[in-house]
Amino acid sequence: MKITERLKAEHGVFLYQLDQLEELALRDTSMDVLAAVVETIASAEDHHAMIEDQVLYPALVQANGGEFALLSKARAEHVELRRLVSRIRSRVFDEHTVCAFVALLREHLEREIHGVFALAEELIPQDTLVRMANWDVDHLREAAGVPRPWASALGSDPSAPADLRLQVPPHDRDHRPRAGR
Ligand SMILES: [Fe+2]
Ligand SMILES: [Fe+2]
Repeated sequence: MKITERLKAEHGVFLYQLDQLEELALRDTSMDVLAAVVETIASAEDHHAMIEDQVLYPALVQANGGEFALLSKARAEHVELRRLVSRIRSRVFDEHTVCAFVALLREHLEREIHGVFALAEELIPQDTLVRMANWDVDHLREAAGVPRPWASALGSDPSAPADLRLQVPPHDRDHRPRAGR
């Protein structure tokens, strides 16, 4: 699976969740419930955006030979989304803040699907996109420069692709994740 396909599949789930959140915001739903639903979506989206910010976007800048307006806009939307979520987390919000979060995230997801990801598939070789889908085993670890023992545990899995087999300390072998996430 290419990283763009993985991210698009996650977008599909987010879009469905945003429909549900919007319905709740337009009904007489308590602020506690709205905050909890936003938190559920936003914490998963934060993780998703981290993959984009640390793995896909830098690869796209490199493939394009520099930054470009569409990507700058998407980055700015990540920042604005975090700002809206911070307001909701600090309980300085009303249903209009929630609707603004829904509208902005929806627009952002569509911009990525039809703009950013389409361009990534055009500019980045397919095998690179596939390799990047293993971001948590390989790329994020490299980008952050932080060793992840559970990722290293793939090294003892004979079914793991050769380029993912790393040296594994014996005590990590019982905690290995499934390959090909
Ligand atoms: Fe994004
Ligand atoms: Fe995304």
